[in-house]
Amino acid sequence: MKIVVTGAAGRLGGKLVTVLRERGHDVTGVDVVGDQVQKIDVTDFAATRGLIGDIQPDVILHPAAWTDVDGCAREPEKAVQVNGFGAQNVALAAAQVQAAVLYVSSNEVFDGTGGPYREYDATRPVNPYGYSKWVGERAILHVNPKHYIVRTAWLFAHGGKNFIQTILGAAQAGKRLRVVADEVANPTYNDDLADAISALIETGRYGVYHFVNEGQCSRWAFARYALDQAGFQDTPLEKISSAEWPRPSTPPPYCGLVNLAGQQVGIRLRPWQQAVDAFLSKEGLLK
Ligand SMILES: NC(=O)c1ccc[n+]([C@@H]2O[C@H](COP(=O)([O-])OP(=O)(O)OC[C@H]3O[C@@H](n4cnc5c(N)ncnc54)[C@H](OP(=O)(O)O)[C@@H]3O)[C@@H](O)[C@H]2O)c1
Repeated sequence: MKIVVTGAAGRLGGKLVTVLRERGHDVTGVDVVGDQVQKIDVTDFAATRGLIGDIQPDVILHPAAWTDVDGCAREPEKAVQVNGFGAQNVALAAAQVQAAVLYVSSNEVFDGTGGPYREYDATRPVNPYGYSKWVGERAILHVNPKHYIVRTAWLFAHGGKNFIQTILGAAQAGKRLRVVADEVANPTYNDDLADAISALIETGRYGVYHFVNEGQCSRWAFARYALDQAGFQDTPLEKISSAEWPRPSTPPPYCGLVNLAGQQVGIRLRPWQQAVDAFLSKEGLLK
């Protein structure tokens, strides 16, 4: 297939470009930043439509987003502009060339009071980032019938900053470690998610999917597991409440996802502990 991947300089977009090329697809990576990509700002509809019209893809994967949740809380209008209307522009540009669109969304479209959530549970975002991703979902649903919406959570990826590296770095530096124990979701390995999305778009089974590694845990349990597996079993890890870790964005507290729809098409992600082990092993950190 001929595929366009937005956010190709980012964590998920970059991995998707690699995996899809390995699967034999003709892939163009686009992003607002980066060297190895065609430049595009998805908030510019004319430019987005022009580029998509030139390429004439079969599918557009749209993981590009403003992912700084605290930044989104400080500038909610910009969040909606990029994550909401940017998605609408991509979906419209796709519809005009009869291409399908896949939007990468977030567990933060739910309010976090009743998780774990299934694909068709009621959404109710509680912070500006979640709201902006919800606007993106609505736009995709309304402007392009050939759509996939893939919600995910707590991504950890090779290269760049991620939660596991931050915790291990702090442990190595002998810092006091305190992690929130009343925020629950699904740690998800970027490589597993890229494989799952690549398999999904080959099915043509449009719809809403929850692609997360199986199982859910608190941030504290995620950190404890990564520390133990990397040889820091003796490093103390204090449990704190989210009230003791104030930040501009309020995360939805119990916001795990369950992958039911993916099972209908034979796509499951392994348990999160196995995914953390695979990540650590590839980084040479598994003890
Ligand atoms: N990371 C997580 O834990 C997580 C959890 C749930 C859902 N998600 C969703 O998963 C997707 C991928 O996340 P990620 O962690 O791979 O994100 P990422 O590494 O931040 O990559 C996103 C890319 O999109 C680019 N971008 C931002 N604004 C753009 C615009 N107007 N036009 C074109 N490109 C633009 C970014 O450029 P800049 O770097 O310049 O902004 C960046 O290169 C996102 O849709 C996110 O909402 C992520």
